[in-house]
Amino acid sequence: MRKFISIKKKIGKFKKKSISIPGDKSLSIRFVLLSSLSQGKCTAYNILKSEDVISAIKNIKKLGIKIVIKKFKCEVYGNGLFGYKYRKNLVLDSGNSGTTARLLCATLIDADYPVKIIGDKSLTRRDMSRIIKPLKLFGAKFQDNNGKLPILIKGSKFTKPINYTENLGSAQCKSAVMIAALKTFGITKIKSLPSRNHSELLFKNVLNVPIKIINKKKYDFIELRGKTEIKPFDYWIPGDISSAAFFIVLTILSKNSRLILKNININPSRIGIIKILKMMGAKVKFFNKKNYKGEINGDILVEGNNKLNAINLNSSLNSSAIDEFLLIFLVASRCNGVSTFRNLSELNKKESKRLDWGIKILKMMNVKVSKIKNHGIKIWGNKDFPTKKKFIIKNYLKDHRIFMLSAIAALSLGGNWKLHDPDSFKTSFPNFLKTLISLGAKIK
Ligand code: S3P
Repeated sequence: MRKFISIKKKIGKFKKKSISIPGDKSLSIRFVLLSSLSQGKCTAYNILKSEDVISAIKNIKKLGIKIVIKKFKCEVYGNGLFGYKYRKNLVLDSGNSGTTARLLCATLIDADYPVKIIGDKSLTRRDMSRIIKPLKLFGAKFQDNNGKLPILIKGSKFTKPINYTENLGSAQCKSAVMIAALKTFGITKIKSLPSRNHSELLFKNVLNVPIKIINKKKYDFIELRGKTEIKPFDYWIPGDISSAAFFIVLTILSKNSRLILKNININPSRIGIIKILKMMGAKVKFFNKKNYKGEINGDILVEGNNKLNAINLNSSLNSSAIDEFLLIFLVASRCNGVSTFRNLSELNKKESKRLDWGIKILKMMNVKVSKIKNHGIKIWGNKDFPTKKKFIIKNYLKDHRIFMLSAIAALSLGGNWKLHDPDSFKTSFPNFLKTLISLGAKIK
């Protein structure tokens, strides 16, 4: 296995017509978990075949559900809301995937035997108390390691609906409450800070669960009825905007380049990155927009631009760009002027401490940055870049987005980069390097 990859040359101008991006990770994992609770065979097309999704698939298989992965589709043979087959001493490994671990726990609130959930080094340091707290209210019992993995879930046969306020703006937490609610008799009411709304759209338009969703200024209000049979369904998964974002930023930072990204999910709760880049002066356009079962999908056209403006970002876009901030910081480092970003403490709770990593990488690039308390960052844009410098990126938690961000910095700015953990991107974007190479990147 390679220890690192080297990038020593900026990417040349590319005007290739279009690329496609693998299926959305949030939708792929939700498909696997929700279809396993349906009454029969469900098929997903264009499902993401990355390590995080494979973790979800392996765990659901261990619960006795048949899953068949074919070249262009994935079939899940659901066995009903209460159809998992539990055995004693069951251990489910969620690998690197927070979405899998947190949403999976919700499907287990009625487990017949205690189930142990484990994960890798990165996942083991992440907060699970955010889902343990509401899932306990449903009636499940937990043994945990101070709110961290490994956890043991003891299911209950007497689960009941709950009223819950989700105050982190976490889609995983909101979705865990929604999934657990399916297993109860009655109405669960959720008041949550805005976050990606894929679960709401799937429940309403695909699973046909009785659900009311009201979006108010500060909070979203969701009411849903549990114990409704889920009929088998098919779903076509669009490209992942969080993966597309790496190529959007590469194009913006590459003079005279132009790129079309086909059939990407541009759900309004996910396109904070595009809104922010446009505020900075980037040339990005959506076209061929379609509504598919409530999700908005479309093509994206992006063009290189070297006149970018600094930004003082209002926190209202934070949740819709939460996985893209490293890229936004990189663009801010190339702008004229000083940019500020606040209320981003959640970034340090991701696969690695991404706020701190953003600061570290920009400092390596001779960009002046400072941390604002424990939640923000101030970036003094600087177009002078030390092209003769050696950059070594070694993230011991193997965060896929740190690796991909570093590759984009290397290819758009130059310098001599050594990126360790060259397999880390496989958690979310297995053909990341191949797609870069198809645009002309030289990677060894
Ligand atoms: C996700 C929600 C986000 C995001 C994560 C995927 C999801 O986390 O960072 O990569 O699929 O629900 P939050 O739970 O913090 O919103």
